Amino acid sequence: MKIENLESVARKLVAPGKGILAADESTPTIEKRLKSIGVASTEENRRAYRDVLFTTAGVGEFISGVILFDETIRQKTRDGRTFVAALEQEGIIPGIKVDKGAKPMANFPGEKITEGLDGLRERLAEYRQLGARFAKWRAVIGIGEKIPTRRCIETNAELLARYAALCQEADLVPIVEPEVLMDGSHAIERHFDVTEQTLQSVFHALAEYRVALEAMLLKPNMVLSGKDCAQQAPVQEVAEATVLCMKRVVPAAVPGLVFLSGGQTDLRATEHLNAMNRLDQVPWQLSFSYGRALQAPVLKAWKGEPANVADAQQAFHHRAFCNSKARFGKYTEDMETAKAA
Ligand code: 13P
Repeated sequence: MKIENLESVARKLVAPGKGILAADESTPTIEKRLKSIGVASTEENRRAYRDVLFTTAGVGEFISGVILFDETIRQKTRDGRTFVAALEQEGIIPGIKVDKGAKPMANFPGEKITEGLDGLRERLAEYRQLGARFAKWRAVIGIGEKIPTRRCIETNAELLARYAALCQEADLVPIVEPEVLMDGSHAIERHFDVTEQTLQSVFHALAEYRVALEAMLLKPNMVLSGKDCAQQAPVQEVAEATVLCMKRVVPAAVPGLVFLSGGQTDLRATEHLNAMNRLDQVPWQLSFSYGRALQAPVLKAWKGEPANVADAQQAFHHRAFCNSKARFGKYTEDMETAKAA
């Protein structure tokens, strides 16, 4: 019964034409983003920025869910509604980041392990009470000369599975995010191999921990050339490699894949999603859960000025619209120059 409810939330999050906004930057990360536009990271500025995103009229047509941060889920809009209520009024499902960040892994130079399981059961119960219906945990796998190690992949996979099991117990849909970073000069083939190994480990652990696959979502990276690789794979190759990699390892019971943008430009992230959705049928919805790729133009337009809120909201609405079109493989470049729909 409970699993059926969770499955229905998971399916709503990947409803055709819709995807997720990741607005769950931790305090140090949002500080970096605000600094990039010359805005100090005070609690009020962080609130004001999220207010811009969450009160954008009509965005619920393209955005199914928003991932919040612990501070944000407790904050209110300028007109005094909780952010949770404001999102719900727009038909958007509130979610919450519950990991405590990727920390250096002892004895494994250059690798990271995600913390946050201690006390998680209690925190999940509180977030559920505050209105969250889904959660997110991010593991980070880096590529380098001698990394990733099998130990790093398997431990992160196990932590993701334990988190996912606790979420389902707490009546929250877990978004399972094992991100293989695009940093480095490796070729796309290496990113493919590491992503495949990582996802194999993750789905093995999820099975071991008895996680119901139909009541979760996977948040994978796309398969890309390393950021510093001289030979950048074109859009079509990225789309084909990513879908092939997913087909090899992601069970059909998972309702949807919500890709992260991971440092791609906003336009490139939309193009890749669009190209994937133009390929042959796959068993899952191919959607998005973008942070930077949805927010970069919003930050640029806003700059911390109340007078710029309308322009910033227009920028968010436009990016959400373009990614919604990409969900159907119907995005075209001229949408970028046409007035936002
Ligand atoms: P990006 O799309 O900026 O990678 O952020 C998504 C996210 O939630 C990372 O955890």
